[in-house]
Amino acid sequence: MSTGAKPRARLARGAASILVAGTAAAAAFALVVGRLTRSNATPPKAGGAPALSDARMMAIIRSSMEAIITVDEAQRVVIFNPAAEFVFGLAATEAIGSPLSRFIPERFREAHGQHVNRFGETGVTERQMGQHQRVLYGLRANGEEFPIEASISQIRDHSGKLYTVMLRDITERLRDENALKRSREELRELSANLQNVREAEKTRIARELHDDLGQQLTALKLDLSALAHGLGDDTTPETAARLTGMSKLIDSTVAAVRRIAADLRPVMLDDLGLVPAIEWLANDFTSRYGIAVERHVDTDGAEFSGAAASTLFRIVQEALTNVARHAEATRVVLTLTVDGQRCVLRIADDGVGALSDSGDTQRRGPQDKTFGLLGIRERAHMFNGTVSIDTAPREGFAMTVTFALDALQSEEAA
Ligand SMILES: Nc1ncnc2c1ncn2[C@@H]1O[C@H](COP(=O)(O)OP(=O)(O)OP(=O)(O)O)[C@@H](O)[C@H]1O
Ligand SMILES: [Mg+2]
Repeated sequence: MSTGAKPRARLARGAASILVAGTAAAAAFALVVGRLTRSNATPPKAGGAPALSDARMMAIIRSSMEAIITVDEAQRVVIFNPAAEFVFGLAATEAIGSPLSRFIPERFREAHGQHVNRFGETGVTERQMGQHQRVLYGLRANGEEFPIEASISQIRDHSGKLYTVMLRDITERLRDENALKRSREELRELSANLQNVREAEKTRIARELHDDLGQQLTALKLDLSALAHGLGDDTTPETAARLTGMSKLIDSTVAAVRRIAADLRPVMLDDLGLVPAIEWLANDFTSRYGIAVERHVDTDGAEFSGAAASTLFRIVQEALTNVARHAEATRVVLTLTVDGQRCVLRIADDGVGALSDSGDTQRRGPQDKTFGLLGIRERAHMFNGTVSIDTAPREGFAMTVTFALDALQSEEAA
């Protein structure tokens, strides 16, 4: 085989440029092929005597890193270039004269033959093959199937139609793409798992702070007031003042513990559910930042799974944090609605907005990574949700997250 030793890497390297050349040049090749095949049904051998331009064109076909196969109207091979020899593992001398179908896995043969005939009837000069199928497959001489990308062109001359197929083995590309897809999915799973672990940890710490520490402080406060009561009028003014100070300190510590616990994870999210937790979040936001939050929350009595409630809550929390940090807004409209089988969460502000839906990236260098919106997208993805952002400078920032309701209700979704 003339190109048996040609390294695959070389083919792969040239692939990108060939694709461009491939689609654009297919029709041109077809014309040349027509001229070449008219005088000679096999490619001219070195030392043959084709016209100079034909020889040149044949040299191009021979040196193409794209496999080129030309068949006649009966779909018998008339040209089989060295790249085709390499890809299919078969010498041109053996390929020429044989039916095109021998290069196609059996189960696709009939459909393929019909496609070619239909293509012939359209009169279109060239087109990409495999529009009805996700991946096309070729069949090597050794029986191995492999994925290909191909375009087909046609010409008619006095002896009938000629079809030229230009194709490329995309085994390695598909393997790389699949590996990339797998690794992306693994990263997503890892990220989802980290989110879940983090959430569980936050819940545990918030519970312990709220219940254990909170109760102990309350008990301490009760002891203190019992002590003050027991001392009655026997206390000196200094002791009384100190007891009052201690009591106030306990009160403020209880408040701090509650705040820290709620910041970690509001207990009401687990105890009362999503809607009261969002109410609390919005009120807390307004009292902290003085920005009004107009609420339209109507979940139509839908019950969310624990993980989904956490996700929706965290999305609102991150969006509100962004409003406080970036928006310079005076008002936020928070909408959570269930409409048939869809649940839509939208947080929109009237602030300064951003240049693009991933934020104002032009001002940022690659080292200034931001994770809030990315985290929102990842959280939404865990429930097959989609995130869309509508923003422009001075036109506010609106984020809409849409879910299928059943994904938010199934305990398994996360
Ligand atoms: N409500 C908003 N108004 C204006 N700009 C916003 C708003 N929300 C986000 N942005 C822009 O989008 C960018 C990305 O937001 P993102 O939450 O991903 O990152 P961040 O808030 O800057 O940092 P962090 O990773 O701590 O969340 C922000 O830096 C900001 O420029
Ligand atoms: Mg943020």
